[in-house]
Amino acid sequence: MPRSIILSDALTGHFENLLRCPVCQHTLRLVDKKSLICAEKHCFDLAKQGYVNLLSHGIKSKYNKALFDARKNLAQSGFFEPLNSKLCELISAEAKSFDRSLNIVDAGCGEGSNLANIQQKLHHCLGTVPCCVGMDLSKEGIQMAARDYKDSFWCVADLAQCPFVDHAFEVILNILSPANYAEFERILHPDGYVLKVIPEKDYLKELRAVFYAETDREEYSNAKTIELFENHLALTEIVPVHYTRNLAKPLIENLVHMTPLTWGAQGERIDRIMDLNSLEITIDLAILVGRKKG
Ligand SMILES: C[S@@+](CC[C@H](N)C(=O)[O-])C[C@H]1O[C@@H](n2cnc3c(N)ncnc32)[C@H](O)[C@@H]1O
Ligand SMILES: [Zn+2]
Repeated sequence: MPRSIILSDALTGHFENLLRCPVCQHTLRLVDKKSLICAEKHCFDLAKQGYVNLLSHGIKSKYNKALFDARKNLAQSGFFEPLNSKLCELISAEAKSFDRSLNIVDAGCGEGSNLANIQQKLHHCLGTVPCCVGMDLSKEGIQMAARDYKDSFWCVADLAQCPFVDHAFEVILNILSPANYAEFERILHPDGYVLKVIPEKDYLKELRAVFYAETDREEYSNAKTIELFENHLALTEIVPVHYTRNLAKPLIENLVHMTPLTWGAQGERIDRIMDLNSLEITIDLAILVGRKKG
């Protein structure tokens, strides 16, 4: 079966009701199983790979295929497994209080493996498959996600103009990605919550110590990120997620290629990490749980 048919079938059901035009904000309807069109006739064609580009303007991103390939390899090695298990635990604990199935969006989903992994875990714990939508500014990330994970709806879109109707989602995931809180508040269901994953000070500290020794990037603080989150949402919990992974050479290369930390580092310092045969790396994260205020 061609992939566009699989996407079209999904769209004719639930997903179509969650979408709105990023240009004029009218609802989008699927026409001829191949285009999403609004009342003002803005038209977005479904790509044959099984995703839709809902950007109203072209955007150049530093997140490219090489970075997402590396991120996916690392994800497949179980690098994010304890994080995804914790996210699944938080979602399934809450899911029992909803009398309907959940709509989940991963805002800034990259190549999609975290969302796909969480969806699979939730299926296992809840016995139902939640409706999952992944969105990212990077077309290359979304193309990979659509190629590899067929159970979710994937779209290229900008956080600043989320192409979703008001109150569409019970859960907004935002994993190591920028946020747009005005849009999060708009698309969040009144009973829903945001799970934002942010680095803690020791996240990838072994890379930071080499890449940024004796510079102002050697130490990291997430205080401003938490403050901004609290300006918009009621922060109900901060859940720590801390573990280490021992990486052999090929995965060390993937680690270096998958993280934006590498972007500002000098070549000679990057080589020092790439030359290692093994590396014990620290994953130090926090999950901010937020709900609508008042
Ligand atoms: C560090 S990556 C994290 C990706 C994924 N959540 C993961 O953990 O593998 C940050 C992601 O944010 C996305 N991003 C940055 N600005 C964005 C925007 N304005 N709208 C949507 N996505 C954005 C990037 O394209 C990139 O995929
Ligand atoms: Zn429109």
